[in-house]
Amino acid sequence: MNTIEKVQEQEFYSMPRIGDQAPDFEAVTTKGKIKLSDFAKDKWIVMFSHPADFTPVCTTEMSGFATRKNEFDALNTELLGLSIDSIHAHLGWVQNVRENTGVYFDFPIIADLDMKVSKRYGMLQPNESETAAVRAVFFIDPKKKIRLIMYYPLNVGRNMNEILRALEALQTSDKHKVAMPLDWKKGDKVIVGPPKTLDELNERIADDSLEKVDWYLAKKNL
Ligand code: BEZ
Repeated sequence: MNTIEKVQEQEFYSMPRIGDQAPDFEAVTTKGKIKLSDFAKDKWIVMFSHPADFTPVCTTEMSGFATRKNEFDALNTELLGLSIDSIHAHLGWVQNVRENTGVYFDFPIIADLDMKVSKRYGMLQPNESETAAVRAVFFIDPKKKIRLIMYYPLNVGRNMNEILRALEALQTSDKHKVAMPLDWKKGDKVIVGPPKTLDELNERIADDSLEKVDWYLAKKNL
């Protein structure tokens, strides 16, 4: 392999990071061809990979996304699945799960047979598996910026409550310019950013509406 090829391969395997623009791609999915940049400009996207169709943990996870799709809809969020399987396998699996359980995977699932998307997004982690994507979740905001990334190994399923909680936390943080404490969930108090000047510090100390643990740690209701 020459130097250019090595650099190209490194880039291919480079992990996207929080704050990066989500790399654009075109892909074949169970709902036809899609291009990431063609998703509606006002929508969040939760893009997630699973190791393989017709496998047990993946079936529970995909069924979780499908049965709670209404909650993602309510958060203005499109779902986008991916695995390194063919469209034929995806369709067979969707139909199989529908027949067995009545659950229908009503969101696009990328057939990433050439591994282009999975490699670009660091979903292919060779020391875990050279042929199957790990369980990744990318939270992409309406400006197509990556805001949160989860990676799970092949043998541990994700937590749908946490995926939804994290999505809502990101959106609430953006809307109200606040930060979210440990285990935050809708209705809980949020963290007000620490003061940056002495004037702000004095304002903070005088503000009785805040729950203050100390001057740098204060919470409020939304
Ligand atoms: C599963 O979904 O059960 C699974 C898939 C790939 C490797 C191991 C487990």
